[in-house]
Amino acid sequence: MRKPIIAANWKMNKLTSEAMDLAREVRNKVGTIADREIVLCPPFTVLSSVKGVIEDSSIKLGAQNMHWEIRGAYTGEVSSVMLKDIGCNYVILGHSERRRYFGETNETVNKKARIAFSTGLIPIVCVGERLQEREKGETLRIIEEQVKTGLSGLTREQGKGLVVAYEPVWAIGTGKTAMPDQAEEVQRFIRKLLGQMFGEENAQAIRILYGGSINPGNISALMSCENVDGGLVGGASLNVESFVKIVHY
Ligand code: 13P
Repeated sequence: MRKPIIAANWKMNKLTSEAMDLAREVRNKVGTIADREIVLCPPFTVLSSVKGVIEDSSIKLGAQNMHWEIRGAYTGEVSSVMLKDIGCNYVILGHSERRRYFGETNETVNKKARIAFSTGLIPIVCVGERLQEREKGETLRIIEEQVKTGLSGLTREQGKGLVVAYEPVWAIGTGKTAMPDQAEEVQRFIRKLLGQMFGEENAQAIRILYGGSINPGNISALMSCENVDGGLVGGASLNVESFVKIVHY
C-alpha cells in the first residue's frame, strides 16, 4: 500500500569528500532496494556531488530547506527551481531546528509547500510538539495547528503526494525516542486531519514518517505501527552501518 520511506537528514554535517564517501557506501549497500524508498538529504553544498554518486541507483535526493520564491533578491537563499535543477526529488520543510533557530513558522512552511509542489518537488513537512507542550497536554492542538496551517490551500491531488514527518522536538538528538504507541497516537491523528483536508482516500496514500532518535534498535517497533510509514533519521544516518541497519529494519 504505502511504500515506506527511510530518509537521512544529514543536517549541517559532511564535507564534500565525506559526503561522497558516505553516499557511495549507502549506494553500494542498498542502492538497488525497491520495496522502500531511500532519500538522502545532505547540505546544499554537496547536493550535486551526492547526486552524481547516487545517479544510477534507486536512492532519491532531498534538500533540507528552501525559499518560497522562485528567484529574486533574497541573499543567501536557495529556491525550489534550483533544487529541482540539480536533481532533487524531495525537500524537508519546517524542521523544528528551522522553526527554533531561523524563525520558520507554519505560514512560511505553507508558502514553501505550495511552491515545492508547483515546481515538482515533494515536500516532507515536519511537525512536532515541544516537551513543555506535551507536558501541558497540548500535543494534539499544536499538531493540528501545524498541519492545518502548514498544508492549507494545497489541492487534494497535491495532498495525496505529500510526505509528513512527525518529529517530537523532545526526541530529536536527545536519545529519547517516542514510544511506538505515542508515535502511533499522534500519527493516527495526523492522518485523520489529512482526511478532513484532502479526502479519506487520499489521506490513506500519504506517507507519515516518524523522526527523533531513530536507531537500529528501535526502528522495527516504530515501523510496526499502522500509521508509521517510515523514518526521518538524523544522527544515525551519518554512519553507514547504522543507517543501513535502519533501512533493513
Ligand atoms: P536525530 O535522529 O538525530 O534525533 O534527528 C532527528 C531529526 O531531526 C531528523 O530530521
